[in-house]
Amino acid sequence: MTVQQRYLDLLRRSLINELYLENDARLLYVLGALQVGQGIEGDVLRNIRTRRPALVAKLAADREEGSPWWNVPVRQADGTEQIVSMRNFCDFTHSMIGAKRMRNIEECLDRVREENIPGDVAETGVWRGGAAVFMRGYLAAYGMDDRLVWAADSFEGLPKPTSQADLGFDYSSATTPILAVSLDEVRELFERYGLLDDGVRFLKGWFRDTLPAAPIKALSLLRLDGDLYESTRDGLQALHDKVVPGGFILVDDYGDFPPCRKAVDEFRAERGIDAPIVKVDWSGVYWRKAA
Ligand SMILES: C[S@@+](CC[C@H](N)C(=O)[O-])C[C@H]1O[C@@H](n2cnc3c(N)ncnc32)[C@H](O)[C@@H]1O
Repeated sequence: MTVQQRYLDLLRRSLINELYLENDARLLYVLGALQVGQGIEGDVLRNIRTRRPALVAKLAADREEGSPWWNVPVRQADGTEQIVSMRNFCDFTHSMIGAKRMRNIEECLDRVREENIPGDVAETGVWRGGAAVFMRGYLAAYGMDDRLVWAADSFEGLPKPTSQADLGFDYSSATTPILAVSLDEVRELFERYGLLDDGVRFLKGWFRDTLPAAPIKALSLLRLDGDLYESTRDGLQALHDKVVPGGFILVDDYGDFPPCRKAVDEFRAERGIDAPIVKVDWSGVYWRKAA
């Protein structure tokens, strides 16, 4: 492994909190016990790996896949388990995309670098900023100083569904406040990783307003992570044409969110895009623009 690969490996592990996974398990144990009105055992806290192996294993597997870990099996006094949802208060990571999708960003950027594919990189839908931090870290590690990272988000969560395809998928701040992360918080995360500089540009607002007018000239990699039909469609309509031949389009929610999949499938059909869709994990996919 080169020094750059070691740095990116550590960066990824930190962003998805693999390094202190036991502490996440401890918190889930405590919160779960409180929810079902049980006491906390010091020995379980000390020896969480051996006392709650299934919880730690589930957490590790979910981090690898970027799958939801907030539905936690909590052991009750009679020994049975109750599933407790901690959706809105126990998202501990700096990025929710998981290890496989994070490695996929690295692999695509390796191709961009090795094949001299020109252009900036962008993410539409950054949440706490983790995946965008990883992209900035990659460019910094390899001295790719002539490229920018564009980080687009409302910084106040998802819009309320308005498109027909999004009805029933209300993840706006009213229902899911954990997805609303302010620009100050995201800037602070970049700062924490030593990566807040002129190489990152923030686009604040709804995609339909910010993306069409964004001063982006060319993209080597576009990462769409806005979950909804509207958000995915707006990202593709505004930015797909800026992806250069040989560049990559990564879609986070293709497997997870039917509205996202619909937006992608419709757009590809309208444009006659037949580049194969490559599966990254249960949710993430990507394709490469024909050279
Ligand atoms: C699933 S999160 C992104 C996760 C992130 N990429 C990561 O690394 O963990 C979705 C984000 O998209 C943003 N978003 C979704 N639709 C949007 C829209 N139409 N305009 C602006 N922001 C939007 C939300 O505010 C939220 O931060």
